[in-house]
Amino acid sequence: MSDKVAKLELDGKTYALPVLKPTIGPEVVDIRKLYTEADVFTFDPGFTSTASCESAITYIDGDKGELLYRGYPIEQLAEKSTHLEVCYLLLYGELPTASQLADFTQRVTRHTMVHEQMHYFFRGFRRDSHPMATMVGVVGAMSAFYHDSLDINDPWQREVAAIRMIAKLPTIAAMAYKYSLGQPFVYPKNALSYAGNFLHMCFAVPAEEYVVSPILEKAMDRIMMLHADHEQNASTSTVRLAGSSGANPFACIAAGIACLWGPAHGGANQACLEMLKEIGTVDRIPEYIAKAKDKNSGFRLMGFGHRVYKNFDPRAKVMKESADEVLGLLGIEDNPTLQVAKELERIALEDDYFVSKKLYPNVDFYSGIILEAMGFPTSMFTPIFAISRTVGWISQWKEMIADKNQKIGRPRQLYIGPQKRDYVDLRHR
Ligand code: CMC
Repeated sequence: MSDKVAKLELDGKTYALPVLKPTIGPEVVDIRKLYTEADVFTFDPGFTSTASCESAITYIDGDKGELLYRGYPIEQLAEKSTHLEVCYLLLYGELPTASQLADFTQRVTRHTMVHEQMHYFFRGFRRDSHPMATMVGVVGAMSAFYHDSLDINDPWQREVAAIRMIAKLPTIAAMAYKYSLGQPFVYPKNALSYAGNFLHMCFAVPAEEYVVSPILEKAMDRIMMLHADHEQNASTSTVRLAGSSGANPFACIAAGIACLWGPAHGGANQACLEMLKEIGTVDRIPEYIAKAKDKNSGFRLMGFGHRVYKNFDPRAKVMKESADEVLGLLGIEDNPTLQVAKELERIALEDDYFVSKKLYPNVDFYSGIILEAMGFPTSMFTPIFAISRTVGWISQWKEMIADKNQKIGRPRQLYIGPQKRDYVDLRHR
């Protein structure tokens, strides 16, 4: 706590509000006792000024364009680390030693298969289901299959649930994809890396050998790392809120997946690539820029803007480099979608509307181009985001459950409905 005190004056009375000091970032006014002492609520739709919890996992400085996982800058991790090492860091707070990493990798790898009976569960879905629809259902259903990791009060069971989800989400996403194609499910292969295994489960068929390209494996691993956590975003807050009631971890992550699906959040990567394709050629960009500026059009430039980043999204920078690298190595650098993306970015960044509102490309602006070059359909983009974010959700969920001050999440409201009135009989309405 800092020495500072904030003061609120209301109806002739002064209320002292303690000010809490974070390790970095803006100070936080503690209003926990405000309602009991002053009989007022605070109003903050969308939580633009409200810290909903204490957390030691991820820090974002939106003005500087900085993202830290447990203090480590995302650019350093993207260059030097791997997704599984980042998973360990997010879950346990420190970078692993070589033996800790080997043990963790072994534990995750040995949990990648799903219960065989889950195969029948998939068959209940229509073939044309969106893979996110399938994932919401199947991940929620994990609570019906893994009864030995449902007790949230048992730290060992929480640990097993965490490992199971990190390990099985790629398998489930790949199965959802295979199911939509009408192809047989491909079982995980323990000899492959986390990212390589996912690519293999998506693109291999029993009829022939599929060799994972090291270029694509590295790019996929980097996409996973960049999306691994992002402090109290909408889906993470959903996971925390669901978990605050004591719901089991699989149900909480299913809730997070459902929230992620929306086009303002994880669904933006699919929406962005579809938009770039719709634009099609560079000469049509001004038309779309004009539409984005027109409030009545209801159209937004997908992949632009962010609630927290008001300078640039550091993940987008790394992603852009990755897009250039992957397309270059695959020999498709003249990809028309990439040309449209680059020109759109250039024009938007010079346009007064976007500059004044601090709208910059976000992580989703370039990720779709890489994923498409790898061979994924747009419907798989958000499932890949979900696989990557699973470790963030589960780390935040574990942190919340272990927090002694944790309470059920229960926001209040500014009621604007009718005052109390008497029921009117049907005949008299
Ligand atoms: N295109 C055109 N105008 C925009 C855009 C956009 N992409 N984003 C924001 N604006 C305008 C908006 O109309 C508003 O204008 P005004 O002040 O005149 O009313 C102003 O900028 C502020 O927008 P906001 O909606 O109040 O900002 P927010 O912080 O609530 O929303 C956002 C953030 C990411 C939802 C929004 O920028 C957006 O819808 N972007 C497109 C979707 C997208 O790319 N989402 C991915 C986010 S990054 C990955 C993730 O988190 O999952």
